[in-house]
Amino acid sequence: MVAKVTEIEQIRHELDNDLKKSGSSADVDKLRSKYLGKQGVVNLLFRSLPVKTNPHLGQAINELKNLIKDRLSAKLTETLSHAEQDILDVTVPGQIIPQGSLHLVTQAIEDIENIFLKLGFARRRYPEVETDWYYAEGLNIPKDHPARDDQETFYVTDNTVLTAHTSNGQLREMELKKTPPIKMINIGKTYRRQTDATHTPMFHQFEGLVIEKGINITHLLGVTEYFAKSYFGQERQTRLRPHHFQFTEPSFEIDITCGVCQGTGMVHKLPCKVCKSGWLELGGAGMVHPNVLRNGGLNPENCSGFAFGWGVERVLMMKSNLPDLRLVYSDDIRFLKQF
Ligand code: PHE
Repeated sequence: MVAKVTEIEQIRHELDNDLKKSGSSADVDKLRSKYLGKQGVVNLLFRSLPVKTNPHLGQAINELKNLIKDRLSAKLTETLSHAEQDILDVTVPGQIIPQGSLHLVTQAIEDIENIFLKLGFARRRYPEVETDWYYAEGLNIPKDHPARDDQETFYVTDNTVLTAHTSNGQLREMELKKTPPIKMINIGKTYRRQTDATHTPMFHQFEGLVIEKGINITHLLGVTEYFAKSYFGQERQTRLRPHHFQFTEPSFEIDITCGVCQGTGMVHKLPCKVCKSGWLELGGAGMVHPNVLRNGGLNPENCSGFAFGWGVERVLMMKSNLPDLRLVYSDDIRFLKQF
């Protein structure tokens, strides 16, 4: 009995060694016949038992047999998975790694920036959370003035807002440069309480400011024409309409001919659905108010300037004929992938 138990131990030991040495499924097959075959180690052990055998010993040999089976099949799986890894099939098509691209608003910002860089404007970004002075009071909009109601402003505290326009950059630029010439394009985020097909609560504006001795409305017209033709196409035309802003005098609204009807207001003898009149509104502009120049530390006797503030998403929609601005800020990849 004791002799048989040590024999079982020895067999287990031998199995361990054999398994360590085997590396292929053929090796495992050989071990299977060595241990479990008709003339195998386990059968010989069974046959060598005395006729009136000890039931415990029979059980121990059965356990050994199961153990050998388990270990052999585990080894087989191991050798097969190694083999699979070794196969390099060069005919399998490569994996396509999806490539991202810049968001269409970012692309528009870059396009706009590049147009103004060519004219010698310096690109700026000024705070989106701004104090009342830079945002309103310094721009000639006193407290309790009705003009404050024009914009649906988000207030952070009584004295600070999320900027509803980029015009705060005008005073900041004057403070930064201290003396003319000033030629900046400030592109930044703006916020208003509004949501519909053409408005989102967060959008972008680009604010131009040019100050030097002798700057007049014709300079504003020239820059406007240059921008409109570069961004929308050479065939586009612009016009000024009188308007009112507290921080410019005189003030204008700038229009640009509609790309759908080419400024005629008619498509196939029917009124154009996009513009109705042949013109689309680009945004506000004007000659910088003397009070604003003074508030920025400049002397209106020595210099003058023009400013404009237009919407990035607005020009993007006008150029690409987008029906709904909310799509631009949805994360629907099927839409965004087209740009
Ligand atoms: N800040 C004005 C707006 O948001 C636009 C503007 C900018 C008008 C500069 C005149 C001069 O509508």
